[in-house]
Amino acid sequence: MQAAAIACCCAFIAVKIREKIVRLRKQWSASVIQGNVTKLIGNTKLVYLRSLSNLSGCKIYGKCEFLNPGGSTKDRIANGIIEDAIKSGDIKAGATIVEGTSGSTGISLAMVARARGLKCLVVLPDDVSQGKIDLLEKYGAVVEKVKPASISNPEHYVNVARRRAKEIDGGFFADQFENLSNYKCHYTGTGPEIWSQTNGYIDAFVMGSGTGGTIAGVSKYLREKNPNIKIFLADPPGSGLCTRVNYGILYSKEQEEATMLRHRYDTVVEGVGLSRLTENFKVALDAGIDKGYAITDQEAVNMSRILLREEGLFVGSSSALNCVAALKAARQIGKNKTIVTVLCDGGHRHLKRFWNDNYIRENGLKVPTVSDNLENLFNAEIL
Ligand SMILES: Cc1ncc(COP(=O)(O)O)c(C=O)c1O
Repeated sequence: MQAAAIACCCAFIAVKIREKIVRLRKQWSASVIQGNVTKLIGNTKLVYLRSLSNLSGCKIYGKCEFLNPGGSTKDRIANGIIEDAIKSGDIKAGATIVEGTSGSTGISLAMVARARGLKCLVVLPDDVSQGKIDLLEKYGAVVEKVKPASISNPEHYVNVARRRAKEIDGGFFADQFENLSNYKCHYTGTGPEIWSQTNGYIDAFVMGSGTGGTIAGVSKYLREKNPNIKIFLADPPGSGLCTRVNYGILYSKEQEEATMLRHRYDTVVEGVGLSRLTENFKVALDAGIDKGYAITDQEAVNMSRILLREEGLFVGSSSALNCVAALKAARQIGKNKTIVTVLCDGGHRHLKRFWNDNYIRENGLKVPTVSDNLENLFNAEIL
């Protein structure tokens, strides 16, 4: 009788142990296996930038947005914009996401559209590299090429995209510059991640502005957590945002001197800089930007080569720009501070231009050598 009771007890314990193991296995799977590619977006790591930190006496970290599955920070807004529009009913089954973009946003939108069973049309100027078009098509996007035109021209690629979204049955214009879902996904994602990854010990955040979504969402979140956190803008040549932040006037030296060449903003840095205020950037202005740093192209190019040499980090042009500004911010706010900036994408997307020595020379810049070091960047005049 006693033996039967013991056997019964043992069987009961064995069942409970088995149940526990099954539960733990499920929990473990849920933590390491994701349901689809969109679940891999965000929660990117921070990397300690040793060389910049050692030189400045601050702790400088880069948020590794190049680790997103589509290779850039734009995955977040592609997912955020589409998710919000599905919730609001603006996107229905079989919809076509339409955007006018020559940058990473097209690739991210095409990826997210594929993962969610939607279609994607990207309108872009016909001078965009064939490599970018190939990549978009590999992701399943339909690409429409138009002649380059100014933004005030109805044939500008963004205006054509807006029109196409109306013409196509089930078309949805993503509108990354003005759509506030852009900054909101950084407010609910990137900002809180940075706050928790630094345990709230963060003194400054440094970022350039393309649409303004990242700087707006992250600044708004961080400022709400701690109003003393400094926000710095990194701005490339030809952009009017830096003077807007520092002096209240949207203006750039290059506009006055009428030296605008082939490129929109006459810079080798892609994805950032603008001469108009977007709805997303206005949110950043409301949150409060302490100072803008006007970074030269040469500084951005030098920083990119130094980051690869000293840190093994192969990043794109806007990431290098951010790191130059982070170094300047460190010099101005003093030692022992924690500064976070963003590594927006990897260098692989920039092999034909920013990482091409011939392109650098053709744009009147010097190909950096080992004598172009961090000390020079740290001690350079702050513009
Ligand atoms: C490579 C890259 N870095 C940075 C940015 C700027 O981010 P945001 O649009 O959030 O201002 C962009 C925007 O297009 C970009 O393409």
